[in-house]
Amino acid sequence: MKRASYSILTVAAIAVLAGAAARGAVTVRWLALVVPYAAFATFVLGMSWRVIVWSLAPAPFRIPTVCGQQKALRWIKPDRLESPPDTLAVVGRMALEVLLFRSLFRNTRMTLREGPRLVFGENKFLWLGAMAFHWSLLVILVRHLRLFLEPVPAFVLAVEKLDGFFQVGTPVMYVTDGVVVAALVYLFQRRLRDPLVRYISLFTDYFALALLGAIALSGIWMRYVGRVDITGIKQFALGLVAFRPVALPASGDSFFVHLILVSTLAAYFPFSKLVHMGGVFLSPTRNLANNNRSKRHVNPWNYPVRVHTYDEWEEEFHDKLEAAGLPIERK
Ligand code: HEM
Repeated sequence: MKRASYSILTVAAIAVLAGAAARGAVTVRWLALVVPYAAFATFVLGMSWRVIVWSLAPAPFRIPTVCGQQKALRWIKPDRLESPPDTLAVVGRMALEVLLFRSLFRNTRMTLREGPRLVFGENKFLWLGAMAFHWSLLVILVRHLRLFLEPVPAFVLAVEKLDGFFQVGTPVMYVTDGVVVAALVYLFQRRLRDPLVRYISLFTDYFALALLGAIALSGIWMRYVGRVDITGIKQFALGLVAFRPVALPASGDSFFVHLILVSTLAAYFPFSKLVHMGGVFLSPTRNLANNNRSKRHVNPWNYPVRVHTYDEWEEEFHDKLEAAGLPIERK
């Protein structure tokens, strides 16, 4: 409980500090330009560093995690997805993992009942929460492209229209705004509710969720309550992207808080568990084909080793073995 509270307090402190800084017109103008660039640079350099380190890690063996029949003799039916024999099957399995969180779908819950009896049951809620969160986030990020691109691409307008399908309220409420907050609340309370998950949850587990929640809530505030100057913000965002910065619009306090929270997330990303976004593609247990039997793999580190054969050993200790009455192969 302490870790969860500290994470919420830390995020709240960042938001309050940003809110306070927004009061000082000069500071805010300066910060609104420096912080996003510094955060973006940290994100790009940090992620590149991570990917370079991962790709340089030696992978002499094929270690895919498989849970299906490997390709073998012609009359034995292989499971191409569970035990992918080639790159095409690896791409298929990876796509299902990244887009549908297939492995999480098989999540089970273990409980000890009276007897004692160990019972395994389905647990689809984590999968549902994770899917709801990640897909909503993707849709929100795609919709945000309208702030950075002029003219706004047709697919962004289409996603916006679809997300506001129910045409409720003015401005129209987006389905993903509700779903992302609900999913984050579920994921946060899941860590608190289950004593086992709570035990292994660290400050950083809660912090990532709290930060994402604060970003979503500040965005929602801007759209539905604060009613910010969206044209001025778009000018500011376009200026950032084109490296021709313009000043923040007046009355952009809540936007400044949103921006600082997003910058915090961007700078924190490469050093947090959130790097799984890139890491999943570089995981050797997922991105390797299981062709251990069909192809010969030679360990690149193999070098000639001076070995001591059994014959040599027996020769060396021949007299002692004989004296002890131990069986000897060569008389
Ligand atoms: C991780 C990144 C981000 C997340 C998760 C996020 C999330 C959100 C959410 C949930 C909303 C509520 C309304 C909506 O869904 O459109 C919103 C609104 C908004 N966000 Fe973000 N945001 C992010 C990054 C940014 C960035 C980088 C900018 C600009 C530089 C920005 C500017 C805005 C603005 C101006 C609104 C109000 C939109 C309106 O009134 O229609 N956001 N954001």
